[in-house]
Amino acid sequence: MKDFNNMVNTKNYLPEQYKQNDKLGINHNYLKQQFSDHDIIWSKIREVVIRGDFTLGSEVDLLEKEYAQISGTNHAIGVGSGTDAIFLSLKALGVGQGDEVITTAFTFYATIGAIVTAGAKPIFCDIREDYNIDPSEIESKITPATKAILPVHWSGKPCDMDAIEEIGKKYNLAIVGDACHAISATYKGRTAGSLGSIACFSFHPLKNLNVWGDGGIITTNSDKLADKLRLMRNHGLVGRDECHIFSYNSRLDTIQAVVARHLLGKINHITESRVAHAKYFDRELSSVSQIIIPNRDDNIYQVFHIYSISCQRRNELKNYLIENGVDAKVHYPIPMHLQPAANYLDHRKGDFPIAERIADSTISLPVHEFITRDQQDHVIKLIKDFYG
Ligand SMILES: Cc1ncc(COP(=O)(O)O)c(C=O)c1O
Repeated sequence: MKDFNNMVNTKNYLPEQYKQNDKLGINHNYLKQQFSDHDIIWSKIREVVIRGDFTLGSEVDLLEKEYAQISGTNHAIGVGSGTDAIFLSLKALGVGQGDEVITTAFTFYATIGAIVTAGAKPIFCDIREDYNIDPSEIESKITPATKAILPVHWSGKPCDMDAIEEIGKKYNLAIVGDACHAISATYKGRTAGSLGSIACFSFHPLKNLNVWGDGGIITTNSDKLADKLRLMRNHGLVGRDECHIFSYNSRLDTIQAVVARHLLGKINHITESRVAHAKYFDRELSSVSQIIIPNRDDNIYQVFHIYSISCQRRNELKNYLIENGVDAKVHYPIPMHLQPAANYLDHRKGDFPIAERIADSTISLPVHEFITRDQQDHVIKLIKDFYG
């Protein structure tokens, strides 16, 4: 094993990042506004403190019922994070050492981290121009070691699930959806939570539904998987004195369930605002020839956890927007196969050309529910001025 401490700076970089976040006027971070009604949440948390049911308390049960209802699934299982949701789902499906999981080269690190932590090897596919896995690449990657396909519904746009589910059926492979961006998204009328065998959601701050720290939830229609996951997130316990599987602790905190339930009541408004803001950007930026807006599908309800477009001179545009007070971000500049962590997989530049091109050209603009039309107009004007 490498001596990591001699190779990299492992200092916690987040406190510094939080301070940076506050500096820009038009920001991706909207948490102060979102939780301006925090007194309502505090009063419910006070009840939790008085009851003392801090882990998997009654609020978690209520959240699970409500989440299953909005997802149209038989089950929802609260866990400690979106990463744990993916990791535990893979373990519940029996994924382990020597297995392979087919996924996208263009995602957040957690998708791949969960596969690797489960003991499996990530097998990458390239993406389409809409940033989602290209199903036509999947079949050629299937080997006797393949145990699951893991599509990521990037930015809240469900993948081409008809094609992926057909492959899953043909080869008897489970499909674990990384739906961490995709609460309330639909594909041909089906919710992201009901696509595939299992779907995994994150409640991380700045996700469309977020809590005061980490949290996640898994949805499935399978009674068997749901039972297994309920055991696996809580040490395999069926009661205080009886353990059925030696497992893990990934219980959703009751306090986080209170926050999640509070926002679940607002999720339609959150989603509709994001969609409306994205549509406005689409309309106003479609005339800028240096920008490519990913195609939008009529039968997909994309919920824009992030609003990403591809553009020329991306780094210059990003710096220009930041200098002018706009929190332009890149999600993400280096695809998974080119990350230092993936060195052992022996990939090289050129292996997944669309993922690489999009990583080089993508930029994300704030699209959350509190951005105003004036702020959007300001961003649009800056972009048009930049390109002259
Ligand atoms: C696509 C994707 N998958 C998984 C995760 C992991 O979620 P969490 O941060 O809750 O562990 C994230 C979170 O940012 C994500 O963006």
